[in-house]
Amino acid sequence: MFTSQETGLAVDGGPPIRTAPWPTYDKGDVFISPEDEAAAIQALRERLYFRYDHRPYEETRTGRLELSLAAHFGVRHALACASGTTAIALGLLALGLEPGSPVACPAFTFAATPSAILLAGHRPLLVECDADLHLDVTDLKRALAEGAKAIVVVHMRGFASDLPAICRLADEYGVPVVEDAVPALGARLGDRHLGTFGHVGAFSTQSDKSLNTGEGGFLLTDDPETYARAVVYSGAYESRMARHFDGAPPPVDDLALPIFGIRMDEIRAALAGSLLERLPARLALHHRNYDHVAERLEGLDRIALRRPVAPHAYLGEALVFRLEDAAPDQCAWFARALCAEGIDARALGDPADPNVRTFWNWRFIFDDPATARAALPRTARYVGQAVDIPLSANLGPDDCDDLVAAVRKVHAALD
Ligand SMILES: Cc1ncc(COP(=O)(O)O)c(C=O)c1O
Repeated sequence: MFTSQETGLAVDGGPPIRTAPWPTYDKGDVFISPEDEAAAIQALRERLYFRYDHRPYEETRTGRLELSLAAHFGVRHALACASGTTAIALGLLALGLEPGSPVACPAFTFAATPSAILLAGHRPLLVECDADLHLDVTDLKRALAEGAKAIVVVHMRGFASDLPAICRLADEYGVPVVEDAVPALGARLGDRHLGTFGHVGAFSTQSDKSLNTGEGGFLLTDDPETYARAVVYSGAYESRMARHFDGAPPPVDDLALPIFGIRMDEIRAALAGSLLERLPARLALHHRNYDHVAERLEGLDRIALRRPVAPHAYLGEALVFRLEDAAPDQCAWFARALCAEGIDARALGDPADPNVRTFWNWRFIFDDPATARAALPRTARYVGQAVDIPLSANLGPDDCDDLVAAVRKVHAALD
């Protein structure tokens, strides 16, 4: 099938396209400026690390971050918390669904999405994805007809889901939408930020995200009661929830809700607040890099780049394409060949890779991979064909050209 010997692929001992490491967050690739470092150090020196200290809300780093996030995204309320997973769980908890409710989410997502549904005490109901790895709206309708009480939409690997269609369907069935916008912090659909279409939007500030504070997260909502409940659940006890409101808080009894201790701290909030000021510059770099690569890979036979649901409706921090009609082991070979060329790539369906973006690996839901695949055959097929490459904001045009050259070189060796 592959004639790699003659093509000089690095995987067979030929010279690689590049020898410099492909920049990724887990190798220390960060988007940080001296101002960001100074903000975190200043917070350390202030010796007030807990968010609910003696100062008024708007004088704390976390309070200021929340106000800046709300202004940046154009929503009424923001709540900083411990992670993206807990932001999704807080959003679901705050909706006040019956415990154990079925909650729809796409089958192509990071394991944290169904985990957050479980953490909130509910039951994930997985929905098929289409050939572009977007939530399939027709299959979502099936899940709603089967009784899903909420929808968690995921903008997986930075690509917006079809929110207008999903929100229309949600309205029709009278269920709320929580957006898992963790992989898409800063991306827009039309002129509106992802994470502001649903009842709640959830984000992460873990190191691989557009705001990198190591760990962390936040949620957005326009609904004061949902916000008040999320604030209490996150760990605002003894009336501290009221500090989040200018006037009287909504009538939420904080002693009637459990508190889960998943707050954000002042040091992390200082760093996030500073990074937020440079977010537009970072987003422009992501788009520049993605467009550079995508334009040069467009039209290669058997390589299907993900199509966005609308022009520019992606973040651009990952390149995901499908090798059409390829079996998972062929895709695994393709990714290995790219790695040998100096580009970090993963085939999502690689049988040798326990990738947690691959739903049939979720043994906390499925007893075995075959049952999982049989339950969601279309997503199994498309995820099995997907190759995923991280695109750092720090990539320059030469790095992007290396990526294009490597994909073309490996592609040329396909039969
Ligand atoms: C789609 C998605 N949801 C949720 C999460 C979880 O975020 P965190 O690691 O901050 O909990 C991730 C992490 O990458 C993710 O990709």
